[in-house]
Amino acid sequence: MAYKALYRTYRPTTFEEVAGQQHIVKTIKNALATGKIAHAYLFAGPRGTGKTTMAKLLAKALNCEEGIGCQCNHCDNCIAINKGTHPDVIEIDAASNNGVDQVREIVDRVKYGTILGKYKVYIIDEVHMMSPGAFNALLKTLEEPPSHVIFILATTEPHKILPTILSRCQRYDFSKVSDADIRERLQIVLEKENIVYNASAVDLIISLADGGMRDALSMLDQVLAYSGDVLKEEDVLEIFSLESIEEKIELIKSIFDGDIADVLKRVNNYIDKGTDIKRLTSDLLDIFKDLLIFMNTRKESFLGKLPTTEAMALSKRVRDSQVMELIDILLDTQRDYKVVQNINPVFEVAMLKLVMVFGIKQVQERPVDIEPVIKPAPVREQTVEPLVEEAKPNVVEQPSLFDAPAEVNNHVQGLIIPKHLTGEEMYEVPDDLMINIMVSAKKEIKNVISGKWDNLKRYIVHPQLGKAASILFDSHPLVASNNILIIECPLKSTVETANMKGTQEALQNITKIAFENQMFVYAVTRSDSVRLQKKYMDLLSIGKLPKAKDIVIELEGE
Ligand SMILES: Nc1ncnc2c1ncn2[C@@H]1O[C@H](COP(=O)(O)OP(=O)(O)O)[C@@H](O)[C@H]1O
Ligand SMILES: [Mg+2]
Ligand SMILES: [Zn+2]
Repeated sequence: MAYKALYRTYRPTTFEEVAGQQHIVKTIKNALATGKIAHAYLFAGPRGTGKTTMAKLLAKALNCEEGIGCQCNHCDNCIAINKGTHPDVIEIDAASNNGVDQVREIVDRVKYGTILGKYKVYIIDEVHMMSPGAFNALLKTLEEPPSHVIFILATTEPHKILPTILSRCQRYDFSKVSDADIRERLQIVLEKENIVYNASAVDLIISLADGGMRDALSMLDQVLAYSGDVLKEEDVLEIFSLESIEEKIELIKSIFDGDIADVLKRVNNYIDKGTDIKRLTSDLLDIFKDLLIFMNTRKESFLGKLPTTEAMALSKRVRDSQVMELIDILLDTQRDYKVVQNINPVFEVAMLKLVMVFGIKQVQERPVDIEPVIKPAPVREQTVEPLVEEAKPNVVEQPSLFDAPAEVNNHVQGLIIPKHLTGEEMYEVPDDLMINIMVSAKKEIKNVISGKWDNLKRYIVHPQLGKAASILFDSHPLVASNNILIIECPLKSTVETANMKGTQEALQNITKIAFENQMFVYAVTRSDSVRLQKKYMDLLSIGKLPKAKDIVIELEGE
């Protein structure tokens, strides 16, 4: 016999077996008991939470030979409905191509009586996918269905359903199934299947399922296919490419230690073995949220993923503001995942930013210049300092990425921006020089400029400066030093326009007017920015960042 998936084998056959959704079960049972049966129902809610299941249960309760409300599961009607072969219980998948034809057929056939049962039950799944034509055909029938016909419409996207349909249905909103309800149902399945399991493995599946009962059962299926009849936490971790809580805590400790070498080693290892990076990111977020709440409440009961002893130990080493900074970085990272093709570099940079919150501990080698300097400028040491080992919690204001305090004097002769004029006559700043600009960046200047960003709006319709103002306004400031502004633009085409030689003058004028600071403006794409941040962090981690120095801009023709 072909293998039947657990979630199909364990579709509830009575109302009592339904996990969660108790408000719905109760209302429907009541309606059946009092004979107040509606002619059209709408079951809305997330996938795998019991909509189709409930529809079939209702169909059985209407047709069971033992009477309305019964689900004996051994009369002809119950058996046929369970098998999906009952001639009066018709399932239609509106997402499939023949949706319209099927609806037309229903409309034609509703007038005929039932074949085997008392009620004809039409279950229309993913009803929001129905074409307008099919919807209209259905609407007519919904208006005045014959008394032996019941429609059950199911959807994950109720907002896409026409109000005219909604108003004719009794609506039930299915919710995600709670962890406790999923656990209870899983335990029943595990026992029936004679599976030896440990609770932490079950908990892990529950947390992955995120309220979806079908997902929980499918994942269980996947693990058992791999491990036979024993359910172990390490198998779940392995199959879904997850890191254990212990590993995540070790990573966090290294971050708090500022141990960039260890963090990088771990990150490389995750990437090599194909860890689910998105999941890891959201797990870290959950842990930091736990930690922040614990630090402010000291209540164990609020802890989700983080064990109490670890929460206590970690909370001694950080300040609220630091944890909030970590959370912000990870939230930004999750946003970035949505716009890049390869998330690994974004994750790497995020981890390095997390370390930066605590300061890099070991920068052993003396920083050295790496860029081809034409006229070397007198410089001061860059100030990412080794952390004093014992100084925990770390209360020293640490520079964060891109905001390394540049202790440079003005008017120091430094680098010259080379011109790489392509066919399009565009400025192109090589990476080495970008790194120098990043090192020399000043947080205060960027803050001032960000504060004045809205000034740009006033110039967007300006005949001469409008284009430059829009370029800036649609971008955001990445790095700013005394006379240089690096912006990150969402579109590659904007980057190209911004870096065209002909645009520079307008850009400098607009910075002068809007920010009261005339600056050389250079644009990068998001992927350039990620690449540069990574390069910066790599150099930093090996102590090879160049020293901060003033950069003198000399453009062709000036
Ligand atoms: N509330 C629930 N209680 C018990 N099992 C459920 C529940 N929701 C889903 N399942 C399981 O998942 C499978 C698919 O559920 P289904 O009712 O088709 O979900 P939906 O129609 O909401 O996407 C069922 O066969 C059953 O095994
Ligand atoms: Mg369904
Ligand atoms: Zn029956």
